[in-house]
Amino acid sequence: MTEAILLVGGRGTRLRPLTVHTPKPMLPAAGVPFLTHQLARARAAGVDHIVLATSYLAEVFEPYFGDGSSLGLHLEYVTEEEPLGTGGAIRNVAGRLHSGPEQPVLVFNGDILTGLDIRALVRTHETTGADVSLHLTRVTDPRAYGLVPTDATGRVTAFLEKPQTPEEIVTDQINAGAYVFRRSVIDTIPAGRPVSVERETFPGLLAAGAHLQGMVDSTYWLDLGTPAAFVRGSADLVLGRAPSPAVPGRCGDRLVLPTAEVATDAKLTGGTVVGEGACVGEGARISGSTVLSGAVVEPGAVITDSMIGAHSRVGRRTILTGAVIGDGASVGPDNELREGTRIWCDAHIPAGAVRFSSDE
Ligand code: GDD
Ligand code: MG
Repeated sequence: MTEAILLVGGRGTRLRPLTVHTPKPMLPAAGVPFLTHQLARARAAGVDHIVLATSYLAEVFEPYFGDGSSLGLHLEYVTEEEPLGTGGAIRNVAGRLHSGPEQPVLVFNGDILTGLDIRALVRTHETTGADVSLHLTRVTDPRAYGLVPTDATGRVTAFLEKPQTPEEIVTDQINAGAYVFRRSVIDTIPAGRPVSVERETFPGLLAAGAHLQGMVDSTYWLDLGTPAAFVRGSADLVLGRAPSPAVPGRCGDRLVLPTAEVATDAKLTGGTVVGEGACVGEGARISGSTVLSGAVVEPGAVITDSMIGAHSRVGRRTILTGAVIGDGASVGPDNELREGTRIWCDAHIPAGAVRFSSDE
């Protein structure tokens, strides 16, 4: 059995129109708080003890997940008074770990949806005898991530967080946000001050000659830090492209939660989720989207790749593509909102106020 630290703190502002009251790990993805998928996947890989390291709205986690026993886990919660950064957060929970100095401790970024073979990462760590082992994935544009070049044996040669210049882009391998630390390495992180594991701990360990091992694994991987990514991830969970034991019900084209009402001729496709108590009217067409609980989609609306906030309303014939509608907002009939639009929580867009297409 293994133990893990899950990092769910930090500023977490990028989903703000929807998350004024809900930290993003608790936003529903495929019908359950996103964190549930990570917890269930860790459990399925043999993890039995998880410490949640958090710094904001921490009080929403414990009432929902409790001691973790419903997931077969022993869960603990540690709240930072001020965000301590990724490394500071790891160090801050060290006192809760049961592992001995040589034993492996898993650490996960809390905003990642992935099919990573967690046991394989632990095996890599054990067979190479590394101090820290990192899951790496390949992306076409690595600028928003930590770049991790490796040698022919997979040993990490540098760690470049969020490269600023073209010369720094030396590889397409990035830090995928899942690590195995030898327990004693966690104890070397300075306590009581903010530390970035990416900018301070990993470069420092490399400079001191420590062995960091990369495991490139090109399974499903997505950072859910933006609304567009969150919607994509939720749809991929429903479609079964992103594996999770916590998806309620069978994977398929759509997921309609109990107490949602969907008109018989409404068309839901592409991994669309309709949350509890939500209502979808006649002839509405919704593809690849997340409709949160209590939202109302009026007849004839056409919604693609969008997030419809809790208790919000989308008017008749309104067209949404790549939009985020905040909780409690309402978009009147005959509007057309396109990629990147964010309607703030409780805002109101009148009928026919915004269009992109020509008038007809
Ligand atoms: N407890 C706590 N305290 N958690 C934190 C803090 C903090 O002060 N700061 C960040 N976290 C958590 C976030 O909640 C998230 O789950 C994780 O640490 C990573 O932080 P992000 O803010 O999402 O970082 P990022 O996405 O820009 O970059 C990180 O992830 C990339 C992969 O998605 C880095 O680890 C990159 O190297 C990596 O490539
Ligand atoms: Mg992130």
